Amino acid sequence: MRFNYFYLMEEVTYQGLTFEPYIRREEIAKQVYRLAQEIKRDYANEKPLFLCVLNGAFIFAADLFRACNLQDAEITFIRFKSYQGMESTGTVKEIMGLTEDITGRNVLIVEDIIDSGVTAAQLRKELAKHNPKSVKMVSLLFKPEALTVGSGPEYVGFEIPSKFILGYGLDLDGLARNLPDIYVLKEK
Ligand code: IMP
Ligand code: MG
Repeated sequence: MRFNYFYLMEEVTYQGLTFEPYIRREEIAKQVYRLAQEIKRDYANEKPLFLCVLNGAFIFAADLFRACNLQDAEITFIRFKSYQGMESTGTVKEIMGLTEDITGRNVLIVEDIIDSGVTAAQLRKELAKHNPKSVKMVSLLFKPEALTVGSGPEYVGFEIPSKFILGYGLDLDGLARNLPDIYVLKEK
């Protein structure tokens, strides 16, 4: 039997809250690979611009961008903030704007998670003003029951219930982004 103590997933605690293992790194890797195959097929003859939404999506974007292995793909970054603690504030603040000219480009927004959909909707509206050729979105995680605006991402890794999760880029007030697996808030 292969034994690696990093794979003994245990509960973790942040700010006095307990989180339990939810999605293992192998499952994440499998979905990243599957999404990469779909994206690679759909953008085979294009020059897509991956647009990573910071901070949460940075780890997923790095893995997905490499897995797609598209010769002419480029990546850039934008930064939004809507969450405070475990709640969406309902308002989205743009902290770092777009630096690239996206006119006529095929833009693929890369998100960690779509919750209320407010961030995604605002971003799509913003991008549309610059006349891109196309805008699609890939999100590692999607909480369909929490969606209040828009129709969700074109590519989804995992559909999950409306529970607070962290790890693999997702945080609780800046913490836990470095966990290689995803954890969910433990119910009392
Ligand atoms: P939305 O605008 O409500 O869709 O929220 C999107 C953003 O909120 C995501 O990009 C995340 O940064 C954050 N978020 C939503 N749900 C969670 C969660 O369960 N854990 C950590 N961050 C989350
Ligand atoms: Mg985010």
